[in-house]
Amino acid sequence: MTPALETLLTTDLHEAARFIQRGELVAFPTETVYGLGADVFNESAIGKVFAAKGRPSDNPLIAHVSHQDQIKQLAADIPDDAQKMIDAFFPAPLTLVLPKHDRVPLLASAGLQTIGVRMPRHDLAREFITACGTPLVAPSANLSGSPSPTTWQAVAADLLGRIACILQGVQTEVGLESTVVDCTGDAPVVLRTGGVTLEQLQAIVPATRKADATDLHQPKSPGLKYRHYAPHATVVMVSEMNELKGNEHAAWIGLHAPRSSDWHLIKQCADVAEYAHELFAFFRACDAQGIKAIYCEAVAEQDLGVALMDRIRRAAHR
Ligand code: TXA
Ligand code: MG
Repeated sequence: MTPALETLLTTDLHEAARFIQRGELVAFPTETVYGLGADVFNESAIGKVFAAKGRPSDNPLIAHVSHQDQIKQLAADIPDDAQKMIDAFFPAPLTLVLPKHDRVPLLASAGLQTIGVRMPRHDLAREFITACGTPLVAPSANLSGSPSPTTWQAVAADLLGRIACILQGVQTEVGLESTVVDCTGDAPVVLRTGGVTLEQLQAIVPATRKADATDLHQPKSPGLKYRHYAPHATVVMVSEMNELKGNEHAAWIGLHAPRSSDWHLIKQCADVAEYAHELFAFFRACDAQGIKAIYCEAVAEQDLGVALMDRIRRAAHR
């Protein structure tokens, strides 16, 4: 066992950046979820990311930039379709998988010759990366297997004593992880749905398509084979509310209020954006209260609803 680290909590991005420069790990906010950052060119720091999260070493990391110029340090080539998406969307909740530059350690890409690149839309995230003076690898800042953190308190619950620093920010805006698009084949392929929708991508590159079963096999999208985003409670997706009854050990989240009020916890969201924003925080709140089952209302699979339904299905799948 490595001894527990003292984890500094700070709102000072320059203080946090000094940890990155010393090869340590810093969790920081983005518009999707909090990321666990390390210098993309420091192999020993990248090793600490996998250790702190308990992450399988075959699951590649996303590299985060604050300026478009930095993409050239990470990618050996920027295919035309990728450049169009960069021009149209960056900074955005969007990750583009590109051919990897030799300078990026293979540890970051889990041995793949490709690297995911993202420029976060959240100002504090970009200011922090700029202060670090280097792109940062950053997976979601949770223990492997638990829901992605949308607050600094959720990061602390998972990683206190395991990382050097948490840069404290607000609850993340989108609440679900970025859309991941593989730009290394003939046509762009959406490997993970997220804040940027298939329709928005197709408006820029019409050939962009959904992943099919073969795309989702190794080595295209290693992370998707792991059971993600799951609270300890059982998650049940509800498409038909009529017969549904609550109980003191169950919680409800959705766009409508459940008929009966005998639930331990009820979260009614005004729209799909609020539902996405709240989902992972709700999962964690339910676990903290020892709730046994979380009922999640199904939503229409359009726009952000596609990514929201994906995350609920993954959490419900045992
Ligand atoms: O919104 C996000 O993307 C957040 C914030 C912190 O930016 N990060 C995040 O990272 O969700 P992570 O590591 O939890 O999820 C990254 C996903 C995994 O499913 C991984 O397999 C996939 O992206 N991925 C990363 N690099 C890849 C690559 N080169 N080829 C295919 N899939 C890749
Ligand atoms: Mg993750």
